[in-house]
Amino acid sequence: MSSSFGTLFRVTTFGESHCKAVGVVIDGCPPGLALTEADIQSQLDRRRPGQSALSTDRQEADQVIILSGTENGRTLGTPIALQVANKDQRPKDYGSMRDIPRPSHADYTYQMKYGIRASSGGGRSSARETIGTVASGAVAAKILKEKLGIEIVAWVSSVGEIEAAPVDGNTITRQEIDATLIRCPDKGAAGQMEALVAELKTLGDSVGGVVSCVIRNVPVGLGEPTFEKLEAKLAQAMLAIPATKGFEIGSGFAGARMRGSQHNDAFTQKDGRLGTLTNRSGGIQGGISNGEPITLRIAFKPPATISLPQPTVDFSGQSAILEAKGRHDPCVVPRAVPIVEGMAALVIMDMLLRQEGRTRPTALILCNLPPGGFVGRFFHPTEKHGTDNKKPKKTQDPPAAVARQPPDHGHEKRPGDRRKFTENIVKAKKFCALFCGDKLAKIASAQGLDTAHGRGDKKSQYPKGNGFMGYIVKGRQ
Ligand SMILES: Cc1cc2nc3c(=O)[nH]c(=O)nc-3n(C[C@H](O)[C@H](O)[C@H](O)COP(=O)(O)O)c2cc1C
Repeated sequence: MSSSFGTLFRVTTFGESHCKAVGVVIDGCPPGLALTEADIQSQLDRRRPGQSALSTDRQEADQVIILSGTENGRTLGTPIALQVANKDQRPKDYGSMRDIPRPSHADYTYQMKYGIRASSGGGRSSARETIGTVASGAVAAKILKEKLGIEIVAWVSSVGEIEAAPVDGNTITRQEIDATLIRCPDKGAAGQMEALVAELKTLGDSVGGVVSCVIRNVPVGLGEPTFEKLEAKLAQAMLAIPATKGFEIGSGFAGARMRGSQHNDAFTQKDGRLGTLTNRSGGIQGGISNGEPITLRIAFKPPATISLPQPTVDFSGQSAILEAKGRHDPCVVPRAVPIVEGMAALVIMDMLLRQEGRTRPTALILCNLPPGGFVGRFFHPTEKHGTDNKKPKKTQDPPAAVARQPPDHGHEKRPGDRRKFTENIVKAKKFCALFCGDKLAKIASAQGLDTAHGRGDKKSQYPKGNGFMGYIVKGRQ
């Protein structure tokens, strides 16, 4: 059984529905990032059972504890273990289902595969497992948002036959989505969806639905063709969520009914890079992000455990009627919203770190660089000969990504060469615009770095403002 996902940002989830605790270990999280339980809890609160009349009545606070990997609210770069206790279990509810495998649930397949299964609650196939995804996804999403401005927002776009009106993926926010219990931003449709789910809960039946998701501000270049294309990895992640039955990207299945002349996304000039006028590709071409919003749709089936009588057979093949007991979700989509967001964050974070293997600047963006020195540099044109050979005065420990590569002092020595200095700065700015559009300034300022070069502080070996841009040029040349 594979409970691990990701290559460089690697998560391993653990736990069953009725064991003592569930959780996740994150390996590969960059060091020095601010992280506390509060950063994770808000997404777990959106996932937790018992959150509204539309979900299961199982009452779990799902309070997360950070067991390791942080100190004084900062990540150490070591594995981060997150744990949530299981508190409200009622194994007795599963008595009738011990001998009768629930139709369309995982009881039969788990039993046949392992010859044993957790005696109650769905065990590992339960949606309790998604706590690990949501918790680790919240960590990834925080890094993506703070360092690169990447935003991930999911919402319910249909329940049964009820479809929401199209949503503007460029502007939709989690606040707007959480304005309704069902998590659908179209208030009219949301009301109908909520009424349907409430009715089915009373009847002991269930219904399916679709969750849509947009990932905004993704840099161009993420995805690892051929077998780990970005959409392939997103599809794998989404289809690993329990109860998923379909995955679409961009135009999805509707694209199969169109002509090339209708479907192609024409290129245009956008924020100093090529963008597209339409986005039927869903932000990915050739398995690589193209800088447009990534748009996904994930279909969820009606939950299998219903209390209406179902004719079926028991494990021995004898006819049986199953009337499932227990507290179950009549529709999973409102709770699936943060799970989809978490999965999306895990994929993008991992792909970002993998792309960083080719383009070091990303590593620097992800690390908290000390302002000023140690990050490679340009020599100021007025700097005197010889001063560049002196060891730089470190303001604080270098970030890990920089420390892996010995600082390369002197290679860019251009004493008195104002023209070369200016050229380098122009190149750096061009590269930054290509790589992150206008986000660089925000990212750099959030880290206390100045992207504009300046004459710097005369006392300092590394004039303030030069380092970050300087390193970016070096990383690409
Ligand atoms: C948030 C969420 C809540 C779920 N709640 C239930 C539930 O209460 N009852 C149920 O039978 N299935 C529920 N499921 C779905 C089952 O976990 C899933 O159908 C089962 O493990 C079989 O896996 P499969 O549907 O992917 O084949 C839920 C899924 C999610 C994502």
